[in-house]
Amino acid sequence: MKKNAIRWTANTMPHFDGGSALASLLSAQEVEKARAFHRTIPGYLATPLVKLDKLAAFLGLKGFYVKDESQRFNLKAFKMLGASYAVARYIAQRLGKDISELGFEELVSAETRAKVGEITFYAATDGNHGRAVAWAAGRLGQKSVICMPVGSSQARLENIRGEGAEAWITDMNYDDAVRYVKELAERDPNGVVVQDTTWPGYEEIPGWIMQGYSAMAAEADEQLKLLGEDKPTHVFVQAGVGALAGAVQGYFSNFYASDGPVTTIVEASAADCIYRSALANQLVAVGGDLQTMMAGLACGEACSLSWDVLRSRADFFVSAPDWVTARGMRVMAAPLRGDAPIISGESGAVGAGLVSVVCSDRDYAGLRKALGLNEHSVVLCFSTEGNTDPEAWRSIVWDGLCPSY
Ligand SMILES: Cc1ncc(COP(=O)(O)O)c(C=O)c1O
Repeated sequence: MKKNAIRWTANTMPHFDGGSALASLLSAQEVEKARAFHRTIPGYLATPLVKLDKLAAFLGLKGFYVKDESQRFNLKAFKMLGASYAVARYIAQRLGKDISELGFEELVSAETRAKVGEITFYAATDGNHGRAVAWAAGRLGQKSVICMPVGSSQARLENIRGEGAEAWITDMNYDDAVRYVKELAERDPNGVVVQDTTWPGYEEIPGWIMQGYSAMAAEADEQLKLLGEDKPTHVFVQAGVGALAGAVQGYFSNFYASDGPVTTIVEASAADCIYRSALANQLVAVGGDLQTMMAGLACGEACSLSWDVLRSRADFFVSAPDWVTARGMRVMAAPLRGDAPIISGESGAVGAGLVSVVCSDRDYAGLRKALGLNEHSVVLCFSTEGNTDPEAWRSIVWDGLCPSY
């Protein structure tokens, strides 16, 4: 057994109906609205769903599919789907319109800018969310202020500044950085926080962000059908605050009802608040500096809207050490002959890394059995970012940082 093992639990929490997040926030109609908005953004294209046949055969699976978000809007991560939609819905609300009446062109027009006046968007981020908020603010001709947790990557900071934001790295962990930007925004008469996590009285914007993310699950499911699969039997999705995981889970639960895929929520073990909450059957936080190479997953306090969806519908919760994602990055970057390579970043590769370990390492035969992964399984993973820090990516993939053994 490796010294730093993968931990997991099945969902044994008492039945809960998923609350409003599942019933209305992530309904099929809301998912479609988000998709319709995304299609109005210039340059919008569905990201590829990569079919890894050789890897599937090697691991004893029927199919292995990876949604490659490294190609999302030149921003190299899925986060843009949430931030752009939340900002658009916020502006629509200020204009007294429904989002379905407002396309991207009108959103960024001089008339809209004149009507809404000056806004400064605030966000805390490991990199991807903040870059997406800065991008959206820039398109609207508005300002953004972005704070990053201690230990954040300089390359990711420069990417955010490159979108025109005022941005810096703080000496706080992610959750404290969220509280800090909230305070900054409260002191600014034009300040609006665009955060993917909730706190009492702040649920609307995180809900919109989740709706934006749910579009990615819908895209993948549609692409899977075009590739001849009925549906995925297993979905693996990673979680930081869990907004993404809740959105993906919400999509599959609403679309397939009780006939949906087996879903596994994967976290970085340094910040596994959802896994621990599942064990405790209540939301628990993880504190400290949350240091992991999976910067996007380094969040110690889960989004409550998402938690409601996950505790009611997710099947498994996994706490994965860094070597699991490093393995996933290498497996995708150096594929078996005949499969296409995928550039997957530290927070993007953990789902595929987990599947590759569970299906090839006898130490995890018990987990494989519990998940029911076999020759009939069609696995869907989300590679949620590309090499958002190219140097760090090379040190893992080329130089072998963080080996599996
Ligand atoms: C690349 C990447 N993947 C996954 C996540 C996790 O998303 P969430 O915080 O909504 O759980 C993040 C969050 O920043 C991310 O940047």
